[in-house]
Amino acid sequence: LNYQTARFLTSAPTLAQCPPDAGAEVAFAGRSNAGKSSAINALTQQKALARTSKTPGRTQLINFFSLVGGESQRLVDLPGYGYAKVPEKVKLEWQRHLADYLRNRQSLRGLVLVMDVRHPLSEFDEMMLGWADEQDMAVHILLTKADKLKSGAAKSELQKVRSRLREWEDLVSVQLFSSLKREGVDAAQAKLDEWLVD
Ligand code: GTP
Ligand code: MG
Repeated sequence: LNYQTARFLTSAPTLAQCPPDAGAEVAFAGRSNAGKSSAINALTQQKALARTSKTPGRTQLINFFSLVGGESQRLVDLPGYGYAKVPEKVKLEWQRHLADYLRNRQSLRGLVLVMDVRHPLSEFDEMMLGWADEQDMAVHILLTKADKLKSGAAKSELQKVRSRLREWEDLVSVQLFSSLKREGVDAAQAKLDEWLVD
């Protein structure tokens, strides 16, 4: 697929307001500030398609980007979770919307779980993996900001995460990524192709 053709489609606060549940989409989830929007920009080779470094916790919107041409294929930027300064009530509300989206969105083909390579597998990440497992939903983990570690340290983080995910081997894959250096873009695109093309 040509990810460079991605264009902003719409924003939705809840599942009910999402675009029609047809075609195929891949959603990007992860902690606030993990690098989800930057990853979408790296994958689509656009500088500012998804807004990055917004005040964390501000936006509670699900942002949809569609690929131009062919059938309806979408990339979805989910709100970040785990931002400490957000009131508990708001956090629970987001969790409800996220769970609702993951459990009920028929066109969702896979979940890209974005983690800062320096802080992988947070409690929230584990929760997402649990939800995905419930749905038999495929997950591809991007250990991003790999440029922040020396290559040996990044590889050893990758191995650690791999071994911790062994029980979910069939559904979960993982790779190193850097939006800054555009590392891992081809491998991530290949995974998206697997999910979105058929
Ligand atoms: P929320 O939308 O708030 O949940 O955050 P997000 O996950 O979309 O993170 P975003 O892409 O906005 O990136 C957060 C910060 O990390 C920004 O300052 C980015 O420039 C930085 N960042 C993202 N990816 C990378 C990367 O691969 N390398 C480095 N060095 N910095 C990155
Ligand atoms: Mg973002």
